[in-house]
Amino acid sequence: LRQKYIDAIANVADEAALEDLRVAAVGKKGEVSLKMRELGKMTPEERQVAGPKLNALKDEINSAIAAKKAALADAALDDRLRSEWLDVTLPAHSRPHGTIHPVSQVTEEVAAIFADMGFKVAEGPQIENDWYNFDALNIPPHHPARQEFDTFYMNRAKGDDRPPHVLRTHTSPVQIRAMEKTGAPIRVIAPGRVYRSDYDQTHTPMFHQVEGMAIGKDISMANLKWVLEEFFAAFFEIDGIKTRFRASHFPFTEPSAEVDIQCSWVDGQLRIGEGDGWMEVLGSGMMHPKVLQAGGIDPDKWQGFAFGMGIDRIAMLKYGIPDLRAFFDSDLRWLRHYGFGA
Ligand code: PHE
Repeated sequence: LRQKYIDAIANVADEAALEDLRVAAVGKKGEVSLKMRELGKMTPEERQVAGPKLNALKDEINSAIAAKKAALADAALDDRLRSEWLDVTLPAHSRPHGTIHPVSQVTEEVAAIFADMGFKVAEGPQIENDWYNFDALNIPPHHPARQEFDTFYMNRAKGDDRPPHVLRTHTSPVQIRAMEKTGAPIRVIAPGRVYRSDYDQTHTPMFHQVEGMAIGKDISMANLKWVLEEFFAAFFEIDGIKTRFRASHFPFTEPSAEVDIQCSWVDGQLRIGEGDGWMEVLGSGMMHPKVLQAGGIDPDKWQGFAFGMGIDRIAMLKYGIPDLRAFFDSDLRWLRHYGFGA
């Protein structure tokens, strides 16, 4: 009997079969249990011999079952560990992920280059009031420059006859806000969205500018030229790129200049920093005394330069993108073509 069960337990393959064996041997009606019941019919002498033997057998079977149970559980765990093994060195499944938009990327590049020259980043709201967008910049009501901007006006409530808010037409209002906040001396750039009602291959109703402003005791046009040439050399990665300053007019600067960078066309391809052509990239000048005053800075003690540059414009030039409108279509095929999509 002992051999029968010990062998069977050793050869059992799973927990269910082991349980069947347990019932058959030491369960209520198991073979060993029945034998133990027969002890009652034996003579005391017989019982003294058979009793301890049966008890020992029962204990032996029980511990054999417990040991087998533990061994089966171990084996099951080993199996699982083997079959559920994870190879963490396999390459991960790739999923599509977003990337930086060219305009954002260029904005970052611009900010980094100016940061090297000590310019901090200033900000202002895109919904601006009449004072900051126009008056403070020496563009009084009825000034012809107001018409040139193709301004988007916000609605006022009925009966409210204050000048309406506008979508800022340029980043120049941030000049005023930055002066108010920091005073002089100051060196900031202000990149951001601006709005004008205009639409064609080179104009979108929303576009991006970066304003630049430096105010000090003796800041001059020469400093402006140096800063811009440093900037263009770094941005286009062309040492010694030439700029051309053309006399111009803005109400908020005096004197004013429009700045071109050197370029040429070779086989229908635009080449920046080569040849004897010119491409207009920004407006600039020495800050008008009235503008300094509007920003709370004494024009008898301080002077400064300011410029405003189209970010999308210089992005188009740097990456050879012909149509500005494509920037804002969010077409992944287009973004990928220019190396920006995922
Ligand atoms: N605000 C001007 C524009 O949008 C650009 C400019 C900025 C000109 C600062 C001079 C000084 O056209």
